[in-house]
Amino acid sequence: MGGCARSGNHRLLIPLLFFFSFLFSFYPFAFSKLSSPQSEVMTNLFRKIPSSELSWNSTEDPCKWKGVTCNPDNSSVIKLSLSGLSLASPDILPVICQIGSLQVLDLSENHLGSLPAEFITSCGKIVGLERLNFSRNALVGPLPSFTGFVGLEFLDLSYNQMNGNIDSKLDGLVKLKSLNLSVNKFQGSVPVNLSKVLEELQLSVNEFEGEIPVGVADYRNLVLLDLSVNWLSGKIPDSLANITSLYRFSANQNNFSGPIPSGLTGFLKILDLSYNNLRGSIPPDLLSPPNLQRVDLSYNQLEGPIPNRLSSNMFRLRLGSNLLNGTIPSNSLGSLENLTYLELEKNSLTGSVPPELGKCRSLALLNLAQNKLTGPLPPELGNLSSIQVMKLQLNNISGDIPGRLMQLASLAQLNISWNLLTGTIPSSLPNLRNLTNLNLQHNNLNGPIPTGIERLPRLLELQLGKNQLSGPIPTMPQSLQIVLNLSSNLFVGHIPDTFSQLTNLEILDLSNNQFSGRVPSSFTEMAALTQLILSDNSLSGILPPFRKMVRVEIGGNECLIIGTPLSPDVIRKRNSVAVPVSTALASTVFAAFVVAVILMSISKRFYRVNDEHLQLGENLPLPQQPKTLLIHLKKNNYQNLYSFLVTTKTSILACVEKVYFNRGQFFFCKTYNFMENHALPWREK
Ligand SMILES: *[C@@H]1O[C@H](CO)[C@@H](O)[C@H](O)[C@H]1NC(C)=O
Ligand SMILES: *[C@@H]1O[C@H](CO)[C@@H](O)[C@H](O)[C@H]1NC(C)=O
Ligand SMILES: *[C@@H]1O[C@H](CO)[C@@H](O)[C@H](O)[C@H]1NC(C)=O
Ligand SMILES: *[C@@H]1O[C@H](CO)[C@@H](O)[C@H](O)[C@H]1NC(C)=O
Ligand SMILES: *[C@@H]1O[C@H](CO)[C@@H](O)[C@H](O)[C@H]1NC(C)=O
Repeated sequence: MGGCARSGNHRLLIPLLFFFSFLFSFYPFAFSKLSSPQSEVMTNLFRKIPSSELSWNSTEDPCKWKGVTCNPDNSSVIKLSLSGLSLASPDILPVICQIGSLQVLDLSENHLGSLPAEFITSCGKIVGLERLNFSRNALVGPLPSFTGFVGLEFLDLSYNQMNGNIDSKLDGLVKLKSLNLSVNKFQGSVPVNLSKVLEELQLSVNEFEGEIPVGVADYRNLVLLDLSVNWLSGKIPDSLANITSLYRFSANQNNFSGPIPSGLTGFLKILDLSYNNLRGSIPPDLLSPPNLQRVDLSYNQLEGPIPNRLSSNMFRLRLGSNLLNGTIPSNSLGSLENLTYLELEKNSLTGSVPPELGKCRSLALLNLAQNKLTGPLPPELGNLSSIQVMKLQLNNISGDIPGRLMQLASLAQLNISWNLLTGTIPSSLPNLRNLTNLNLQHNNLNGPIPTGIERLPRLLELQLGKNQLSGPIPTMPQSLQIVLNLSSNLFVGHIPDTFSQLTNLEILDLSNNQFSGRVPSSFTEMAALTQLILSDNSLSGILPPFRKMVRVEIGGNECLIIGTPLSPDVIRKRNSVAVPVSTALASTVFAAFVVAVILMSISKRFYRVNDEHLQLGENLPLPQQPKTLLIHLKKNNYQNLYSFLVTTKTSILACVEKVYFNRGQFFFCKTYNFMENHALPWREK
């Protein structure tokens, strides 16, 4: 029976549907339950918004449009979210304000340039309007006086370019709970006559000036007060301590001075007073309330000791760049299970690194750099299984590097440079699988670099300079990129040519060791190299030709010469590199004479030299049988000091070190260093 009835209805339904869809194309909202005045407003709005920005379908019920929320029976619009639509024309505002049922209007992330007077008059009348968001637009000029808006609870004008004073322009907003004026150019003083129910006042990154008015304490419900990055000055008022609801107070990057009031943190969870001019000592009770989780007092002029009692819920404590002295409080640190960031760098802290720190199991960052810490590195630091960054550089820490530190599997950065550490680098170093930066420079470490260092798969930077390291140099990790620095150690012998496999390495510093022999020609294949520092070694021969962008420093290797005298063609092209001395000499005639004299001296021991061919400014192929002599000139670090390398096409015959020129005179500081008995063969390209 039911089946028959249905098929009968069908016959009627199809023509009816055709009729209605014809009708609907003229009355797009015929099906919508939205009240007809609101349908009209929405159609108007639809026409005013460039269609390219929206996926609105005008034949659908506006309550189904993206960003439109209606009340439960769909008879009126209560929320419009038109965020991120590149809207630039304020013409839409008076249209929107005709929606008398609106509770939330979000126009954030558009290009609106102003809030027209009609917006204030028409939207101001909507008693149910609770939330207005104009964040991240292009609003300029002074704030309009908000009259009406009796129900407004949230006003967000952040990230615009508005200026001028706040004065009493927002004083009528009696229900205001949250005001965000951050990142504008507002001036004048912090407003104190806003609604008495205000919970959030965000004024950061503006040009507010003067002191924090005492009246701020009258906001009895304040939860969040952000005054950071302004031009505020004077003292931090102690009255803030009376606001029991306040959980975050940020006043960083201003010009506050004077002492920090005691009791300030009685109710706070987060306190940021960094980058000011606060003086005096840290009140003994400041860091102890158990509600306290994050404190940043860095970059002030605070002095005296770090208070002994610390909140057991402390998550982040930053006291760096002050004038604090005394020791690191060890007794309460041992119980800080949530402590994740501890930054006490750049103070005058004395005593040793407390072993109790090893109990702060959550610690991810420990920065005690640039203090006056002494004593050994406690092996207990090896228990910090979450630690990623450990900075202890620029102290007077002594003793060995404890092997237990090498079990820190999360450690990415270890900087213990500029201390007084002795002993060897623990051979278990390759256990630090996550290490990216290792800096041990300026200590008194001796012995070899641990073999197996190659197995550190993430190492980008290895700074071992200024120690007494010696022994064979192991294969280095392929990942090295920032720098490999072995400068100022006791390494001897040939430079390992395995370095040339470090194809990501940008800086290689081998200076101030006793490396000897040639610079491996494979070094020119290091694709990322920009700086090669070989100075102050005993290297010899001719530096292989590096790309132009590689800065090579070879000073202090008397017998290491720049230039490749391959064929006359190449010589002509490379003149400026091969013979940098030419422009430096006052008189080419004089210089030619010197070269001639030196050559003649060499020739007495080697070959007969035909000095007719001497010309300064070129490598000199001398037509000698059976071999051709080549002269390479080099100006050394010090003015007027030169070296000469005399080679055939295949081997080095002599090095003439330290020829000194002065006022038309020349003399040798050092006798010829002939290498005939151990002439080093060298490959031609
Ligand atoms: C608009 O909605 C109607 C009815 O739901 C539908 O038939 C039509 O395809 C839609 N148009 C677009 C462009 O999505
Ligand atoms: C109101 O509109 C929404 C969105 O289009 C829809 O899901 C809901 O069913 C409608 N409610 C009523 C009561 O019609
Ligand atoms: C305003 O919009 C921005 C970005 O869309 C958002 O982050 C912010 O929380 C909103 N403000 C309020 C008070 O809802
Ligand atoms: C390690 O400390 C030195 C000395 O202060 C500093 O120059 C370097 O940037 C630091 N490196 C890292 C990775 O922390
Ligand atoms: C290498 O280490 C030495 C000694 O610590 C230092 O003086 C030098 O600046 C470092 N070189 C580079 C390129 O960082």
